[in-house]
Amino acid sequence: MKVGIIGSGGREHSICQSIKNSSKISEIYCFPGNAGTEKIANNVKLDLDNFEEIKDYIIKKKLDLIIIGPEKPLVDGLVDYLEKNQIKVFGPNKIASQLEGSKIFTKQLCKKFNIPTAKFGIFENNLSAKEFLKNSNYPIVVKADNLASGKGVYICNNYTEADLAVEEIFGGKFGIAKNILIEEFLIGEEMSFFTIHDGKVFKNFGTAQDHKRVLEGDQGKNTGGMGAYSPSRLIDDKLEKKIIDKIIRPTIKGLSEIGCEYKGFLYTGLMIVKNEPYLIEYNVRMGDPECQTILPKLKNDVVDVLLACCEKKLDRIELEWSDKKSLCIVICSKGYPETFSKNVLIENLDKINLNKDEFLFHAGTSSNNNKIYATGGRVLNFVTISEEFEEARKKIFSNIKKLDWPGGFYRKDIGHKVIKE
Ligand code: AMP
Ligand code: GLY
Repeated sequence: MKVGIIGSGGREHSICQSIKNSSKISEIYCFPGNAGTEKIANNVKLDLDNFEEIKDYIIKKKLDLIIIGPEKPLVDGLVDYLEKNQIKVFGPNKIASQLEGSKIFTKQLCKKFNIPTAKFGIFENNLSAKEFLKNSNYPIVVKADNLASGKGVYICNNYTEADLAVEEIFGGKFGIAKNILIEEFLIGEEMSFFTIHDGKVFKNFGTAQDHKRVLEGDQGKNTGGMGAYSPSRLIDDKLEKKIIDKIIRPTIKGLSEIGCEYKGFLYTGLMIVKNEPYLIEYNVRMGDPECQTILPKLKNDVVDVLLACCEKKLDRIELEWSDKKSLCIVICSKGYPETFSKNVLIENLDKINLNKDEFLFHAGTSSNNNKIYATGGRVLNFVTISEEFEEARKKIFSNIKKLDWPGGFYRKDIGHKVIKE
C-alpha cells in the first residue's frame, strides 16, 4: 500500500514512523514533511490550500490512504473534497471539524446536550461584550470563535485585560469576528483524552498531559506544547466512564442529529474539577506533542487501525497498548514562541543511538547536504517509554546532552506532577 500524510510536525513524523513499521506499506509520502520524515518517506511540497493540486498528485501516484495531521485542512474541508474524488482519507469532514473550527458551535452543542463545560455567553458586538465584562467576576476567559493557532484564548485577570481581548478579537486579529465567547474560568487540572472514530463506533486512544507554557514551573507564554506524558495522572475507570458518558457520547449523538458522522481522531481537552470532567475544547486531530507521546505505545499495526476506521470496521479491532509510561520533551529554537533564528545548524544528531523504547521525532527541521537545520519554533521531540516517568526523563536528558545545538532550549521539568524532584 502507498500512504500519504499531510503535515510537517512532530505529530506527522510519529505517524509516519508508525506507518513505516507496518507490514503493508510499500511507500509513504509526506506533504510536506520535515528532515525526519525525509529519511523514511518521500517529502513532497504542495500548496496545502490547493485541494485540486493535492488530489491530482494523490491520483497520479495512486496513493491508497491519506492521513491528515493538522486542523486547518480538516476545517477547510479537505476530507470532503478528497472523498468526493473517491480517495480514502482518515480524518473528520468539514461539518464535524466545526468541533475545533468554531468554539461557539461546540458550546451550543454542549448547551443542547447538557455536556458539562464552563458557563458561557456569546456576544455579537464590542459594546454588549464590554457591558457584560464590566459587571463580571475575574479571572474570566475571552475567546475568539474561529481557528487561531491556539492564540485566540485570553485568560483575563481584570477588566483592562478583558477590554483588550475584546478589542483585538473584534479588531480582526484572528480573522473576521462576528461574535465572541466569554467563559467562566474553571479551576482544576487539565487533561487530554483521545478517541479514534470510524463514524459508527469509537475506541479510547490514550490520555496525556501537555505542558503548554514555555517556562519551567508552567510559567510564561503559551506554546503549542513543550512536552507531555502519558497516561495522565488523573485517569481511572470512574473518570473515564464520566468523560465518555457525559461528554463524548452526547457529542457524537449531537453530530448525528445534524446528519454528521465522526471519523478520525478526537482530542477532548478537559478540566477536571473535583473528579468531574468539564469540556474546555475539542480538537479534531491528535495533539502535538501528545501524538508523539502516545503512538509509540500502540502495539497494533497502525495501518490496520486507520483503514478499519475508513471502512467502518473499527469494531473488529482490539487496540493493544504497552502499559509502560511515556514521556516526551520538545526542544525548541531559543526565542520561541516569539521570534527565533531560522536555518540554524544542529550538530551531533548522528551521535544519538536510540534503543528500542527511545524515539526522536523531528518537527521544524530541514536538511541540506546531509546536514540538519532548525527551521521552526518546535524542532525536535525526544520520547522514551519506560516503567517509570523518572527513568524515561533521565534517558531523554542523556540523549539531549549528546546534541550540539546552542540555539536550542527545552523544559527540564516535563512531568513535574508525576516525578518527585
Ligand atoms: P483552548 O484553546 O480553548 O484549549 O484554551 C487554551 C488554554 O486556555 C487551555 O488549555 C486552558 O489552559 C485555558 N482555558 C481555556 N478555557 C478555560 C476556562 N474556561 N477555564 C480555565 N482555563 C481555560
Ligand atoms: N498540544 C496541544 C495541541 O496539539 O493542540
